[in-house]
Amino acid sequence: MCGIVGYIGEKKTVDFLLDGLTKLEYRGYDSAGVAVMEGKNIFVEKSVGRLDSLKEKLKNKTLNGVIGIGHTRWATHGRPSDVNAHPHTDCHGNFVVVHNGIIENYMPLKEGLIARGHKFISETDTEVVAHLLEENYTGDFVDAVRKVLSLIEGSYSLVFMSRENPDVLICAKQENPLVIGLGKDENFIASDIPAIISRTRNTYILNDGEIGIVKKDSVKIIDRQGNAIDKKTFHVTWNAEAAEKGGYEHFMLKEINEQPKAVRDTMSKRIAKDGASIILDELNWDKKFLDSINKIYIVACGTAYHAGLVGKFYIEKLARKLVEVDVASEYRYRNPIVDENTLVIVISQSGETSDTLAALKESRRLGAKTLAITNVVGSSIARQAENVIHTWAGPEIAVASTKAYTTQLILMFMLALYMAQINGTIPADRLKELICKLKKIPAQISETLSDVDPIKTFARQYGFNEDVFYIGRSLDYCVALEGALKLKEISYIHAEAYASGELKHGTLALIVEGVPVIALATQKSVYEKTLSNIKEVKARDAIVIGIAATGDTELEKYLDHVIYVPDTDELLIPLLTVVPLQLLAYYAAITRGCDVDKPRNLAKSVTVE
Ligand code: M6R
Repeated sequence: MCGIVGYIGEKKTVDFLLDGLTKLEYRGYDSAGVAVMEGKNIFVEKSVGRLDSLKEKLKNKTLNGVIGIGHTRWATHGRPSDVNAHPHTDCHGNFVVVHNGIIENYMPLKEGLIARGHKFISETDTEVVAHLLEENYTGDFVDAVRKVLSLIEGSYSLVFMSRENPDVLICAKQENPLVIGLGKDENFIASDIPAIISRTRNTYILNDGEIGIVKKDSVKIIDRQGNAIDKKTFHVTWNAEAAEKGGYEHFMLKEINEQPKAVRDTMSKRIAKDGASIILDELNWDKKFLDSINKIYIVACGTAYHAGLVGKFYIEKLARKLVEVDVASEYRYRNPIVDENTLVIVISQSGETSDTLAALKESRRLGAKTLAITNVVGSSIARQAENVIHTWAGPEIAVASTKAYTTQLILMFMLALYMAQINGTIPADRLKELICKLKKIPAQISETLSDVDPIKTFARQYGFNEDVFYIGRSLDYCVALEGALKLKEISYIHAEAYASGELKHGTLALIVEGVPVIALATQKSVYEKTLSNIKEVKARDAIVIGIAATGDTELEKYLDHVIYVPDTDELLIPLLTVVPLQLLAYYAAITRGCDVDKPRNLAKSVTVE
């Protein structure tokens, strides 16, 4: 995820900027840059790759400026490169801006700016902000920033610097973190506390809609209308390590809690304004193209494979196309029946998984059309595939995949809707209804995350069992597989997921008194059948924890414990039911004293066979 730093004071700004960016390296990035006010000019330096290459470029420069901004970029719009790195400037280098987040309406804004004579040099969404500032500046920097904020849509934290106003930095926050650090004759701005913690612990944590006007000896907070806000300072007590995790005990828990934002970022720019269709600018598919495809493969590993299973369900149900799902390590060696009429979709958070990359190359060799779904712009998989759609989850640091999975589900769902739109396999009112429900998912995930106490209790009670079973039918089964993987990989408890109807073909022999079974029962179309299977395990004295949608009054009649998630369409409910399963795995691992973020024998990115 991108990192932001800013400094205004009496010391050489570049020292703080580089130090602050170094403290943010743990967040992941692909390029970096700084802008420093040198006399009457703004000096900008940027570099793709590690911070060391930026430092190398700056090595022989004498920068004495005392006001500046810096950025580490995690690419979303445009590949990682020197040009796409932040800071971005307007046509004349009068305004400089750094940005975290996504400007959703940047395309129409950019078209308008180009038509009015502005010259763009990068592929980023951010550059529009600098040009908008240039266009709206009439001598009052704060007013111009407020005007720009009224024009842009999306999520952002932004810091602005102006050549004509060398005594102030302005920053603004909307759905991305931003903090102002308060010093003596100096003030700091950062996207995250670790960047400033060695300089000051007195801060203002900005809220959405707030604008900070930061001078070396004063900080003023205003709202979008320009009204002053009387804000309380926040004294940071975390140590540096806790600060990196945003106050959470582990990256995994932080990332679980980031899901509402990750999901919102991934979906929002891809929904038409009227909420009646899906826009996937990355693809230029039409009916002729889809008619030419007679088979779709989804190929991936681990959690991404589980997202693929859900994807199969979506595409078959909504777009009425046949889909096979395969684990990449099997697919690549089994001489798959693939030709130019096959579409192969590979899913990979890292974009570097060796098996998935090899499966992609093999598919291309066989002549298939290829599409990659990945979280890392410029990754090997993104570069090899003909088409790419990115999840915008931000970097995932914990080995256990959480927000990558939910954003992959979002994209699989949107892809299926997009194909259904083209194919004419979904009535317009059903499409609108599903999009409307989709838009509510981020808030519903937040609601699910707000009540973790029962999950903690179950984890403490059952965290020392040696075996746990997960059961479900239809999409519940796909989520059960993911829940079992999460538990296995971080708590080392043996966990298996079964299609509920399959239990009686062997595994029921293992269900005896006291064995914990997590039963998902949210799929209305197979609800009665699921209930029968739950009764079967209950009859064998298993301890059954149900996962149900709010409003289900049946399940608790048979079970001691039911965890409820908000109700939504049965197609979308995997995005909610997976959350308590992630938390259950997390708290079970804590109960057992496991190293949650770095489980044994596993790597975040598996680049070997
Ligand atoms: O980077 P990828 O999505 O290609 O990684 C695939 C798997 O290695 C990954 O999902 C793995 O299963 C996770 N540790 C699961 O939490």
